[in-house]
Amino acid sequence: MRETAPTSDLPCILLDWYDAHARDMPWRIGPSARKAGALPDPYRVWMSEIMLQQTTVATVRDYFTRFVTRWPTVADLAAAQDADVMGEWAGLGYYARARNLLKCARAVVDQYGGTFPADHAALLTLPGIGPYTAAALSSIAFDLPHTVLDGNVERVMARMYDIHIPLPTAKPDLMAKAEALTPTERPGDYAQAVMDLGATICSPKSPACGICPWRDPCAARAAGTASELPKKTPKKAKPVRHGTVYMAQRDDGAWLLETRPDKGLLGGMLGWPGSDWLDVSHDRPEGIPPIGAKWQDLPGEVRHTFTHFHLILTVKIAQVDASTAAASGQFIPRDQFRPSDLPTVMRKAFDLSQGERCVTAMSTSHSALYGSE
Ligand code: ADE
Repeated sequence: MRETAPTSDLPCILLDWYDAHARDMPWRIGPSARKAGALPDPYRVWMSEIMLQQTTVATVRDYFTRFVTRWPTVADLAAAQDADVMGEWAGLGYYARARNLLKCARAVVDQYGGTFPADHAALLTLPGIGPYTAAALSSIAFDLPHTVLDGNVERVMARMYDIHIPLPTAKPDLMAKAEALTPTERPGDYAQAVMDLGATICSPKSPACGICPWRDPCAARAAGTASELPKKTPKKAKPVRHGTVYMAQRDDGAWLLETRPDKGLLGGMLGWPGSDWLDVSHDRPEGIPPIGAKWQDLPGEVRHTFTHFHLILTVKIAQVDASTAAASGQFIPRDQFRPSDLPTVMRKAFDLSQGERCVTAMSTSHSALYGSE
């Protein structure tokens, strides 16, 4: 029979490892400061956790820094213009997160006087805060023993206990294992330690088991199955949809853009007017041009991958007189137009119009990789 560490030792072993190896992140309070009694600002923890959903730490860092520099407190964010927040979020994808970010900031100000509640049940009532985010805030920001279960933690638990049930079926089992390990001492550091372990050592493809602090008690390491776990139920192939966008530029340089309806894909974001996006059983949809003009097809096309489908867009462009008025949407003057305010798919259309003919491969943009809007 192999000697394994008792379950009660596992959090201590991991916390010792975290004391030496915690990753430095702009929203984090390191283990020494925490031991001295410091806690992070819940606003920063909340912001980081919302941004980190479906997005890598590397991508989030700059967005996080821009957001908290521009809006240092939840009250500042609550008072922001919707369009400014959506513009700052552009490129990060999953735009419902940004809409909920604003709603939540306003709810924290209106209902809690600008202070995030430390109560887990109260957190769950706030817009955009589900079980994962409530647990992350409770543990990381308030040092309460709640269990976070993200993709990293799922992988670590599946391997530690050699669980072969595929995801998502295995989730309740993995949660039960993760809960059983959550300590009452230093639960905030522990939550971040498991996530760091999953991100740096217990990585998806080639786990570095030789340097893992949990290598001895790990059942998958003993069985030689670590790199196969967690098992996943195969995903359905994504369908391909087609559409057309219309880019009208006035002689004075202004571009015709619209703010998309709040509900639905890319809701609340700026975009080029265009057709519906339909699957290939339809003719390539052209929709109705937003204004009468001599529209020309741009050579090339835009490809983008959303969570549930791939999109191929035809881009039509027209130059119109400086006196042209918009029937819907608005002409944004050249000096006020920031391509970085556009969500990635719309930004790709702009790049195509500027001569970047090489079509972004569906699998290469960070939004595509993370199934972003
Ligand atoms: N992923 C999501 N939240 C995280 C955190 N607080 N630390 C490390 N990785 C994370």
